[in-house]
Amino acid sequence: MTILPGLLDTEAIRKDFPLLDRVVHDGKKIVYLDSAATSQKPRQVLDALNEYYERHNANVHRGVYTVAEEATALYEGARDKVAAFINAPSRDEVIFTKNASESLNLVANMLGWADEPYRVDHETEIVITEMEHHSNIVPWQLLSQRTGAKLKWFGLTDDGRLDLSNIDEIITEKTKIVSFTLVSNLLGTVNPVEAIVRRAQEVGALLCIDASQAAPHMPLDVQALQADFVAFTGHKMCGPTGIGVLWGRQELLEDLPPFLGGGEMIETVSMHSSTYAPAPHKFEAGTPPIAQAVGLGAAVDYLSAIGMDKIAAHEHAITEYAVKRLLEVPDLRIIGPTTAEDRGAAISFTLGDIHPHDVGQVLDEQGIAVRVGHHCARPVCLRYGIPATTRASFYLYSTPAEVDALVDGLEHVRNFFG
Ligand code: ALA
Repeated sequence: MTILPGLLDTEAIRKDFPLLDRVVHDGKKIVYLDSAATSQKPRQVLDALNEYYERHNANVHRGVYTVAEEATALYEGARDKVAAFINAPSRDEVIFTKNASESLNLVANMLGWADEPYRVDHETEIVITEMEHHSNIVPWQLLSQRTGAKLKWFGLTDDGRLDLSNIDEIITEKTKIVSFTLVSNLLGTVNPVEAIVRRAQEVGALLCIDASQAAPHMPLDVQALQADFVAFTGHKMCGPTGIGVLWGRQELLEDLPPFLGGGEMIETVSMHSSTYAPAPHKFEAGTPPIAQAVGLGAAVDYLSAIGMDKIAAHEHAITEYAVKRLLEVPDLRIIGPTTAEDRGAAISFTLGDIHPHDVGQVLDEQGIAVRVGHHCARPVCLRYGIPATTRASFYLYSTPAEVDALVDGLEHVRNFFG
């Protein structure tokens, strides 16, 4: 058994995750290496969802009866937990959405409808990077098409990092917003926030960070990041699907217009006009994802009890081991950083000229679950001249033995394809 410094007690942790006991294909136990797509869920989260529906299910902010008040307290309690988890100065800065895509679309649409000084028009620029997930590209393309704003981006270096050599030309006095990922879902790169923050602040641009691949894996402190908006999703961090978060600075949330209209986001409505509730409710039209928020609250409790710094250390050890072992596989090319420094636990690779879909299928026959394709980050594949990659991604329950299983599985793939 491989012992690495910094590993968590995965034997105990794995008991919390029922799916990790699943048997697939001829009695083989699943080796789940697709946590960057979605994490598995611990019993504690499943129990919280069940308990909510069995005992407290009612709509929130509306009823005066006991169960409705309990549902509201649980939903708003989840907001408190998330606010503490990301060190938000105020709970009112935490907006619940459906997922990170909705959070990022919300920012783009707030700005799309905003007046000065936030107005985005044909004289302004929007900055993203070539390593973004489609969720942090398409909303900005839509905004740019609608307003005439110019969309610019940072390119990538050959080793999978952001090329910031022309930062002063990319972020200029015309830049209204810079939106970038903290950790790439395809390359695994952890980006240097400070340099970008400094330049964005110099020109007075707003800063939006996609933390979808960061929030599950490392301590996240929105105040330390000095961003204006931070988006992430619940299902990658042990929570259920259908719940995302947008954190935004209070003054901005007060100033910026809502995107979706409907119940719950208003103060008063007449047939001629409406006034809006204060944030966060201004941005949560309609019945919100109540059970999902409660589940996310339970996930935050679960992760916090283990400790995000310990989870980060575990993943660092696994990633270092996985990079080393994968580089031993003949013909394997890692797309992204080949060291564990400033890198997350998603590792994409190609294997000779075997198509990633074939790699994924032969791995699946051995019980190994990886993601194949362009990972909703097609510009990265275009940049490196490849149609797709195979991606293995690790989490707090991943073990060195699973890395070994992947490496053995890849050997089998190579033999299979001659
Ligand atoms: N964004 C998720 C991934 O990278 C779905 O797999």
